[in-house]
Amino acid sequence: MADLNLACVVGARPNFMKMAPLLRALEGYPHVRPLLIHTGQHYDENLSDVFFEELGIRRPDVSLEVGSGSHGVQTARVLERFEEVLRQGTPDGERFDRVVVVGDVNSTMAATLAGVKLGVPVAHVEAGLRSFDRSMPEEINRIVTDSICDILLVSEPAGLQNLRREGHPDGRLHLVGNVMIDTLKWLLPKARARDTLSRFALEPGQYGLVTLHRPANVDTPQTLSPLLDVLIDTSRELRLVFPIHPRTRQRLQQFDLIGKLDAAENLTELPPLGYLDFLALSSGARLIVTDSGGLQEESTVLGIPCLTARPNTERPVTVDEGTSTLVGNDPAKLRQALRDVLDGRYKQGRPPALWDGRAAGRIAEILANSGSPTSNLPTPTEKKGNHE
Ligand code: UD1
Repeated sequence: MADLNLACVVGARPNFMKMAPLLRALEGYPHVRPLLIHTGQHYDENLSDVFFEELGIRRPDVSLEVGSGSHGVQTARVLERFEEVLRQGTPDGERFDRVVVVGDVNSTMAATLAGVKLGVPVAHVEAGLRSFDRSMPEEINRIVTDSICDILLVSEPAGLQNLRREGHPDGRLHLVGNVMIDTLKWLLPKARARDTLSRFALEPGQYGLVTLHRPANVDTPQTLSPLLDVLIDTSRELRLVFPIHPRTRQRLQQFDLIGKLDAAENLTELPPLGYLDFLALSSGARLIVTDSGGLQEESTVLGIPCLTARPNTERPVTVDEGTSTLVGNDPAKLRQALRDVLDGRYKQGRPPALWDGRAAGRIAEILANSGSPTSNLPTPTEKKGNHE
């Protein structure tokens, strides 16, 4: 089979653990040549570099360095710069045959737009998830990405249903499982062997892990402050650790809330952690409070109660079969759910089908056999003002 040149795009923290197993699985197909493009949506050492190192991802072949900005600015920069990468072609002077995007961040949507507009078929890993909440920026990214991409790689059955309802033909849909869980299964032994818990003076099962970063939770003091009050109260009974996302830290300072967090003796604030330290913490926790989509999935596989501070989820299997419960940003619901866990009244979950550590292998097979390259991009030597 002819060589298949893939432009594999990552941008923000949750993308890295999804792309890492796929790049490894593609190594089994010598005719497939993945190029790695980092948009630079996340650029901090502890939101980006540490993940490349720990997940064994090679240095990006291309860095777009888009950085922070409003949604419009961030999206526009990726669109403009990634389009240029596609137009330039590979370092060997060949065209790109496929774009591969993962997840639902701004970089995912922008790279998809650039690809389809140039006629390069786009494969979306984690397609079909819908929260039905258009106030979430990620929901817009999911809808736009899926509506125009070509190969839809789905992690849970609800994703298939959503895509069918939206009119996607079955030939484009593939239920492949969850690549994030591939990474978890691969690195769990390594994470558990680390000294993370002892470094933070934690005992397995004797602490709760908290993460919050969604605009709906952290962007107004009216929402953030009551949630913090519940957490601070809970910390008197169960030690809590809280790795704080840069967005959340900015808001805590802006709203003058950092002081009350600092004053809570049994609540430990941490900087954002690398993958291995974080997995060590999540896998040893008694419970998790989060608004992260990825952590809902990981806690389900780890069998750890997950109180999800969101009114809805695009990952319903984590609630229906897994260990997640939606508590919204309602402090009373969070308080009650925490009580249930601490009193031993919480449900048991089970890992969903195909969340078995082998999703990337299925995706690699689909991509490798995705037919002859069909890009209608000119080869770099042909391009003379086309597509202007
Ligand atoms: C993004 C994703 C979200 C994902 C999250 C994981 C979108 C719309 N959102 O949200 O789905 O769950 O990443 O972290 O794509 N910042 C830094 N250093 C960095 C990157 C960002 O300090 O390396 C700061 C920015 O200046 C900004 C804030 O963090 O103030 C938010 O960053 P941004 O990438 O815009 O969105 P996230 O909230 O991280």
